[in-house]
Amino acid sequence: NSLAIICIVLSYLLGAVPFGLLLSRRSGIDIRTEGSKNIGATNVTRLLGKKMGALTLVLDVAKGYVPMFLTAMLFQNAPHRDLIIALCGAASVLGHMFPVYLRFKGGKGVATALGAFLCLAPVAVFGCVLVFVASVFLSGFVSLGSLLGSLSILLWLPLLHAPAWKLGLAAFIVAMIWTKHRENIGRLLKGTEKSWKRKVEAET
Ligand code: G3P
Repeated sequence: NSLAIICIVLSYLLGAVPFGLLLSRRSGIDIRTEGSKNIGATNVTRLLGKKMGALTLVLDVAKGYVPMFLTAMLFQNAPHRDLIIALCGAASVLGHMFPVYLRFKGGKGVATALGAFLCLAPVAVFGCVLVFVASVFLSGFVSLGSLLGSLSILLWLPLLHAPAWKLGLAAFIVAMIWTKHRENIGRLLKGTEKSWKRKVEAET
């Protein structure tokens, strides 16, 4: 119905708001031309420090969480509730990845996907965050943490007996996140990805 379509479009438009870019512009730089050139929290932290990075992270997580939460409330007993929620979740993550405001050149979707699944499957997200933190701590690569952390949701959801539609949504989003990380994957394989640890050590 039309309310569902409005929710999906609004989820996309909210997901498309490039908070990292907006915050970096306020500091006088365009993150799309510096560091990894990504508009996400990792690159904001890299270029503008932990505070701005954390703010970007919170806002990017919120734009995944809020549409899911509101849609779940609005369609509490609707017949196609699961499908509508799944489409809103996919729309907000795709909004971040392909924002209409930036000629469809957006970010990698990790924080926004985290926000969406924080609403749908918080325990699974906790597992993903553990895998992320362990991977980044052991390897020094944030991108490897994002890749392994996101992939691990495909393990946690079945273990938690999550319904098939959540697994389907997760599989789609993980595939998109991995596709968006193809340059990072190339650098990881070549050994040229920038290590977080080495950067911090070099600066201190
Ligand atoms: O979530 C993005 C992260 O995995 C990689 O970011 O800026 O190092 O490409 P970046």
